[in-house]
Amino acid sequence: MKILITGADGQLGQSIRKIAPNHNHEFTFTDIEELNVTIEEEIDNYLKSGQFDFLINCAAYTAVDNAENDYDKALALNTTAPYLLAKYAKKYKTRFIHISTDYVFDGKSSVPYSTKADTNPKSIYGITKLQGEKKILRCNKDAKIIRTSWLYSEFGQNFVLTMLKLGATKSTLNVVFDQIGTPTYATDLAKTIMKMVEHMPIDNIFHFSNEGVCSWYDFARKIMELRNLKCKVMPILSKDYPTIAPRPAYSVLDKSDIKLNLRIEIPHWEDSLRECLDLVE
Ligand SMILES: NC(=O)c1ccc[n+]([C@@H]2O[C@H](COP(=O)([O-])OP(=O)(O)OC[C@H]3O[C@@H](n4cnc5c(N)ncnc54)[C@H](OP(=O)(O)O)[C@@H]3O)[C@@H](O)[C@H]2O)c1
Repeated sequence: MKILITGADGQLGQSIRKIAPNHNHEFTFTDIEELNVTIEEEIDNYLKSGQFDFLINCAAYTAVDNAENDYDKALALNTTAPYLLAKYAKKYKTRFIHISTDYVFDGKSSVPYSTKADTNPKSIYGITKLQGEKKILRCNKDAKIIRTSWLYSEFGQNFVLTMLKLGATKSTLNVVFDQIGTPTYATDLAKTIMKMVEHMPIDNIFHFSNEGVCSWYDFARKIMELRNLKCKVMPILSKDYPTIAPRPAYSVLDKSDIKLNLRIEIPHWEDSLRECLDLVE
């Protein structure tokens, strides 16, 4: 298969790049320099000339707090770009896989969110990502959307790498314990996307994270423990750690559909965290 990746220098893009040699496909990795996903003409030309079988969109505006004061850019990247990619993917008979987020939910549930659960995003990031989902499916009925949560990797900027940095220099660290979710190791998501390429399911929307549930506090503690860092992690309430964008208090995703459709077993978040930490200096 000929597979085009957009936003390939981000966490997920680099994780797909890492596992690409294990797959017998012809990959083309692009980021803004090669293919700016906000420019319609570039998308049209790239897809027209490449004759790709698959387009996997890893490009996004992921700075959740910055998005609150940068609506136009968040809209361009999280709503308009996915729509344009979906539209031209359809035109050139390229299957389209897009990544969305647990932040499309308001976090008021106390049971894992199914793919059919009502959405109600509270942040500009979540709102623009949900609008992207809707616009994709309106113009491309075959598109696949995978919502994921708390993504981290050995690449770029993320919670794990931030904790490692802070844990090495600070004696105590306050981390919220009233936001509950599940971390997702980007390599596990990359492998699942490859599985989807090879066994295309019928439904449109899927959920993927690692198995298990934790708070950011639990996650931080486990990072310190696995790395033998002496930094003491203290649990605090979100109200004592105000952020510009509101976060869902509960965003555990129910992964039944993706497990059933792709016949996959998903690793527990602690096991995947160990795997990631083995790759970080
Ligand atoms: N990170 C999370 O915790 C999280 C949680 C849930 C869902 N997700 C979703 O998962 C997906 C992958 O996230 P990620 O963490 O891998 O994102 P990321 O690391 O922020 O990567 C996004 C990539 O897109 C690039 N990009 C920005 N503008 C572009 C443009 N106009 N054209 C082409 N590329 C452009 C970025 O470049 P620059 O870095 O130069 O801007 C970056 O390389 C996204 O859809 C995200 O919404 C992420």
